[in-house]
Amino acid sequence: MTTRANTIPLIPPAARRRRSLRFAIVLVTLCTALGACTDSATLVEEDSEQRMAVAFTAVAVSPTQINLSWPMHPASDIAGYRVFRDGAPIAVVGATAFSDRGLTPSTTYSYRYSAYDIAGNESVQSAPVTATTLADSSPRSFANDIFPILQTCVGCHSDYASPQTAYLSVTGRGIGVCGGRATTVAGSAARSLLYQKVTSSHDCGVLMPPSGRLNSEQASTIGTWINQGAANN
Ligand code: HEC
Repeated sequence: MTTRANTIPLIPPAARRRRSLRFAIVLVTLCTALGACTDSATLVEEDSEQRMAVAFTAVAVSPTQINLSWPMHPASDIAGYRVFRDGAPIAVVGATAFSDRGLTPSTTYSYRYSAYDIAGNESVQSAPVTATTLADSSPRSFANDIFPILQTCVGCHSDYASPQTAYLSVTGRGIGVCGGRATTVAGSAARSLLYQKVTSSHDCGVLMPPSGRLNSEQASTIGTWINQGAANN
């Protein structure tokens, strides 16, 4: 028990699940025999995840950047660290810090990291930490910033052709598949169908535009305009 705090098992990824399963079976057999079952097999895993997350910080420093840092892993043969954002690997670094850039303003991201050694063995991932990028305060204009982006959609959405009808359309209600939804919820990009549809966070219909997609700066401009109140400015 006392040594465990310093010993994070570095197990080859493929073997990890098999081994912890075998470990769990041994424990279950043992505790069944003793008549005193607890779920200590799961606790070991949780304990490591929690330990990895001690002093792991994510700090939003701008509307598009979050800085991460974590403590050095105690094992002597650590080769580097892997960083995960919202479940997907985004970086492999030798240092114990990483700056995640190009993010969307006013958006919450969740991070984990793992350590790997020179033989390629990888630790468990830390428990997650989250941070929300700062709000973008430079004002976005519907006419100058949003309307031009919507011109790439006019082939299908003919109501986006003039600034007046485009504004009414993107602040009105969804039709068809997403019927009745508020296309834009002023102040909340996350709850707005328009933003969900161009960032694939939607749960109805298809990603917009259906082929190709807006680049992250265009999507972020739409998100910022909505978060700033979705004015007809
Ligand atoms: C190839 C045709 C096509 C293009 C291009 C296209 N859309 Fe669509 N769009 C559709 C269809 C069809 C629907 C209805 C089906 C759905 O909701 O998935 C739709 C639905 C939507 C909705 C849901 C609201 C509603 O009225 O139902 C939004 C918001 C939207 N599109 C935004 C856009 C934006 C923004 C662009 C350009 C960046 C774009 N679309 C480009 C065909 C298109």
